[in-house]
Amino acid sequence: MRPGELAAAVRSGRRRAVARALSVVERGGAPARALLAALGGVTRPWVVGITGPPGAGKSTLAEAVGLELIGREGRLAVLAVDPSSPFSGGALLGDRIRMPRLAALEGAFIRSMATRGALGGLASATEDALDVLAAAGFAVVLVETVGVGQDEVDVMHVADTVVLASPPGLGDEIQAAKAGVMEIAHVLAVTKADLPGADRTVAQLEAALELAPREGWTPPVVRVSAVTGEGVAALVEALRRHRETAVEPARAALGRRRARRRVERLAARLVLERAGDRALDRAAERVASGAADPYTAAMELVETLAAAGTEPALDHLGIAVRSIEEGARLYRALGFEVEGTETVPEQGVTVAFIPAGGTRIELLEPFGEGSPVGRHIERRGPGLHHVAVRVPDIRAAMAALREAGFELLSEEPRPGAHGSLVCFVHPRSAGGVLLELTQPGDDGR
Ligand code: CO
Repeated sequence: MRPGELAAAVRSGRRRAVARALSVVERGGAPARALLAALGGVTRPWVVGITGPPGAGKSTLAEAVGLELIGREGRLAVLAVDPSSPFSGGALLGDRIRMPRLAALEGAFIRSMATRGALGGLASATEDALDVLAAAGFAVVLVETVGVGQDEVDVMHVADTVVLASPPGLGDEIQAAKAGVMEIAHVLAVTKADLPGADRTVAQLEAALELAPREGWTPPVVRVSAVTGEGVAALVEALRRHRETAVEPARAALGRRRARRRVERLAARLVLERAGDRALDRAAERVASGAADPYTAAMELVETLAAAGTEPALDHLGIAVRSIEEGARLYRALGFEVEGTETVPEQGVTVAFIPAGGTRIELLEPFGEGSPVGRHIERRGPGLHHVAVRVPDIRAAMAALREAGFELLSEEPRPGAHGSLVCFVHPRSAGGVLLELTQPGDDGR
């Protein structure tokens, strides 16, 4: 199904289309981007996050809250987000067993989601899933996370209203939770309130709140028992009050803040994807070996990417030298960093690149008999050998030049340094300068 068709099916609210679209966004990549673009702008549902330590009874709580909200608010979806699980959604049977009463209702949709180790992380995947659910017309989405780590805190930033579920008798857990989730929770629910120790947990949470007073909304502490039904109505009432007093009035500002976080995450992910594993590994190697500090390595990665656009650009200046060591001294003295050498047997040269802002200097040391660079040095001595321009598609560029009557030195592109493809334009055709065309290799260099 094409992205447009799937998007239309999602907008019509068809459950199977929604499930399928969630699988697409969960897997990520180009299909997910195409689908999200096809969905277009949509009205965001009220997103209620439910988090807390394992054993807090979050699923039970989510079901109880869902049963209260569904119908009154409209259709409702539950998204169970599990950063630790390698398995993805579509575990429909499991989802239904977890919340049998809610799952039986017409307007409810329950789905679990795993991270798949995506670079943008779980929070990005959750945002994408919310776009799908919003397009499908769900008025409320409950987002439930499995643990209370940093991933879960990130996911909770996606929610409008956050519930922290704390079961009785977890003093240490509360201490741990205070460090992260406590700050972003809007309602503190003491779950399993029918068990002994609930009073103590309530007191601990209230004490923790007093230690860290907040401006504006003060999170209420609510006792809830899904077994007896105690407190469920009060909890839902607290959630609604938060929406009315803190979410609705700040909707525009909250939307901007969320959008900004989302763009930041995606931009970071795109940079890493574009840079590619090889470039990342190489940067990591340089940092680990002490050849570069992490800031410099990260900066270079970004600058290389910025330089490796699809526009034609000046890529490097090639300088013929008798010895790279000798030639590099000047640039080292000026504070440039000289990269490791690479041998290009096809050209009979060893090369070393020196990053220089958006462009580079390439030192070329000839070896073997009949190296073109060697002949150049014999005839004219060391000096500027060629100017290289980067083109996105070297075959297309060569065809265009041939068409226009320029003289190329080879019929086909040839392998260059860093997995690039190169071709030379005869100086007769290029104002007396040997012009190299280069198409960067996989890692954008
Ligand atoms: Co070159």
